Amino acid sequence: MPNIYIETYGCQMNFADSEIVASLLQKEGYTVVDDIENTDYILINTCAIRDNAEQRIRKRLHELRALQQRHRQVRIGILGCMAERLQSQLMVEEENVSFVAGPDAYRQLPDLLARVRQSGTKAAATELSTTETYADIEPVRLGSNGISAYISIMRGCQNYCAYCVVPYTRGRERSRDPQTIVAEARSLFDQGYKEVTLLGQNVNSYRFQSPAEGLPPVDFPELMHRVASISPLLRVRFATSHPKDLSDRLLEVMAAHSNICKCIHLPVQSGSDRMLKLMNRHYDSAWYLDRIAAIRRYMPDCSITTDVIAGFCSETEEEHQMTLDMFRKVRYDYAYMFKFSMRPDTYAAKHLQDDIPDAEKTRRLEEIIALQGQIALENNRKEVGKTFEVLVEGESHRSKEQLFGRNSQNKVIVFDRQDARPGQYIQVKVTDCTAATLKGEIVR
Ligand code: SAH
Ligand code: SF4
Ligand code: F3S
Repeated sequence: MPNIYIETYGCQMNFADSEIVASLLQKEGYTVVDDIENTDYILINTCAIRDNAEQRIRKRLHELRALQQRHRQVRIGILGCMAERLQSQLMVEEENVSFVAGPDAYRQLPDLLARVRQSGTKAAATELSTTETYADIEPVRLGSNGISAYISIMRGCQNYCAYCVVPYTRGRERSRDPQTIVAEARSLFDQGYKEVTLLGQNVNSYRFQSPAEGLPPVDFPELMHRVASISPLLRVRFATSHPKDLSDRLLEVMAAHSNICKCIHLPVQSGSDRMLKLMNRHYDSAWYLDRIAAIRRYMPDCSITTDVIAGFCSETEEEHQMTLDMFRKVRYDYAYMFKFSMRPDTYAAKHLQDDIPDAEKTRRLEEIIALQGQIALENNRKEVGKTFEVLVEGESHRSKEQLFGRNSQNKVIVFDRQDARPGQYIQVKVTDCTAATLKGEIVR
């Protein structure tokens, strides 16, 4: 049977999806290889969130032409959000792409691959579904360290933030049966995994109504409670929370389980109420700050991270300053910071003007990055002297004598290895830091 090689770009959901694709194809007899020179199919799981994400894939496709000259049998397929956005047009624009499959069409991959091989024609499957959750597929853990794994708990998004392409590339929101989620987490724990991250575009709107009569619906706090109850030695993380739906009940459940990691990713996008409204985020800065206060009330040691967009349509200098103010108020531990990129088909593309010049977007972004760098360093300095439980993940990139791991707050800590091993929980005292990393030593 032929070999497949999978390359993944984009968010954690895409990485989780690639593991489902690997599983689906392995079941049909394909072998997943990690040597691109020794494969029959290259599957590229793509992202469409910003224009530069798509440009990167186009560049990669051009690079792969040389490999296809050397290995004439190789067929390239595009999966994921860019496949869904562009559908068969992508195979016209990029001659060396033989097939495309969107996020809800992965069960058709064995069929697509066979068709491409046998008839030599191109093939596409890009229909979105309202029910597909791949709940029955046991993912093949690609490139896993055997310690932490992703579990997809829902798919799609229907929040329609004005700038965002995801509702168009991933379809309607749907939640996966909680029994299959808990079973997957338990199976990972039994295999020796120590950490699972539950994934969805907006986990706070997770809701599963069992078809069996008389069972109450399961919401996200209840799901977290069930997964966290598997074992106190299994850490549980989740992403992403939409601020509009972050409930006190979730915070209560988080505070009640020591193995639910004290870290919340709460994308703010902007500090300006006018921008938030234009973005269709369904909260304002006061609501957002109230949720931050609630997090701190339930869990004073919780780290908070965010996403932000600089230079959204018609953003004024004053509104940009409001974003900086928001960063000063919340004092995030980490932030993913982006320049606005207009995406076709979105509300913004249809109704708004991309009127902030690129140089101005860059300036605003750089101001946010500089401020956040300073805040992260100050936050980390406050950790010096504290001792944390750390889950050891592997060898430090800098030195074989050092290991790295993360504390509950998701901060990376590097320390001299002594006799510690990946997969262990150890106590580490922080002795020094940079804006990105804590340094420490093992305490007995
Ligand atoms: N579902 C998640 C976000 C997924 S996309 C949530 O709602 O929080 C990750 C981040 O990419 C978003 O939070 C946003 O900050 C950024 N993003 C999305 N569309 C963008 C665009 N068109 N231009 C720039 N950044 C964008
Ligand atoms: Fe995009 Fe908004 Fe959905 Fe997040 S919640 S995926 S930003 S539409
Ligand atoms: Fe990108 Fe799709 Fe994720 S657009 S961010 S890969 S949901």
